Amino acid sequence: MEKKIGRNDPCWCGSGKKYKSCHMATDQKIYKHALEGHIVPRRDMLKTPEQVAKIKESAKINVACLDAVEKMIGPGVTTKEIDDLVYKVTTEMGGIPAPLNYEGFPYSVCTSVNDQVCHGFPSEDVVLQEGDIINVDCSTILDGYYSDSSRMFCIGKVSEEAQRIVDVTRECVELGLKEVKPWGFLGDMGQAVHEHAEKNGYSVVREIGGHGVGIDFHEDPWVSYLTNRGEDMLLVPGLMFTIEPMLNGGKPDVFVDKDNDWEVYTADGKLSAQWEIQVLVTEDGAEVISW
Ligand code: MF3
Ligand code: CO
Repeated sequence: MEKKIGRNDPCWCGSGKKYKSCHMATDQKIYKHALEGHIVPRRDMLKTPEQVAKIKESAKINVACLDAVEKMIGPGVTTKEIDDLVYKVTTEMGGIPAPLNYEGFPYSVCTSVNDQVCHGFPSEDVVLQEGDIINVDCSTILDGYYSDSSRMFCIGKVSEEAQRIVDVTRECVELGLKEVKPWGFLGDMGQAVHEHAEKNGYSVVREIGGHGVGIDFHEDPWVSYLTNRGEDMLLVPGLMFTIEPMLNGGKPDVFVDKDNDWEVYTADGKLSAQWEIQVLVTEDGAEVISW
């Protein structure tokens, strides 16, 4: 429990305003939800406007990387070339690729092709072929602030089946985003995602979720897409997290490559797709910070 602050004391957020004309009403609203038994965010999970401004600078690099990848990707391109490009764009803009050396991850970006679910290693041996689908997951550190988003790319002409999983996964993210608003719940988003996935015959990966992000690469809350409306954490202005569901064409089961302990594949070898956006809960809705 945070220390009690008087109405006329300076607000805990450092705005210099009195508590009563700054965060007092919000804190009371959060407290009421906590008493009702809801999971509520800790104060340190709510980003200040200054932090948001810094995170947005980081996100400019992240978006520039994905835009650059979009321009060069195609049949014959290796995923190593994508890795090199992300490193180049990020460092030239003054950032650091967040994946590089993160818990031993040896590359600047994750490139996950077809039945790879996530955390794919870029390689000069992976030459993209017409018909492949690939997720490029990019994360940036700038002045200590983090951004994180990923996109799917279709290589040349892909099968109807491949196109459909890419499109439906994107729709899941868009439908989830519509549910992000202050005083709603993370489960409102989760339900929108898994309902749309299931309606289309896809399964949602259970083990790997989204996360809070901004001050660190992976912060609380952990974001599931199997939750339901009214469940999970209360959404409060300043909360920032990713929506990044992974949809499988077959069963939800996945396995991790034992050789490197990173690369994740579908257990049944069917296709998997993922899109990721970084979202901020605002006073009147949501703002997409990175996409
Ligand atoms: N960008 C991934 C995410 O969405 C991070 C994977 S960890 C890494 O959370 F080391 F592989 F980058
Ligand atoms: Co992420």
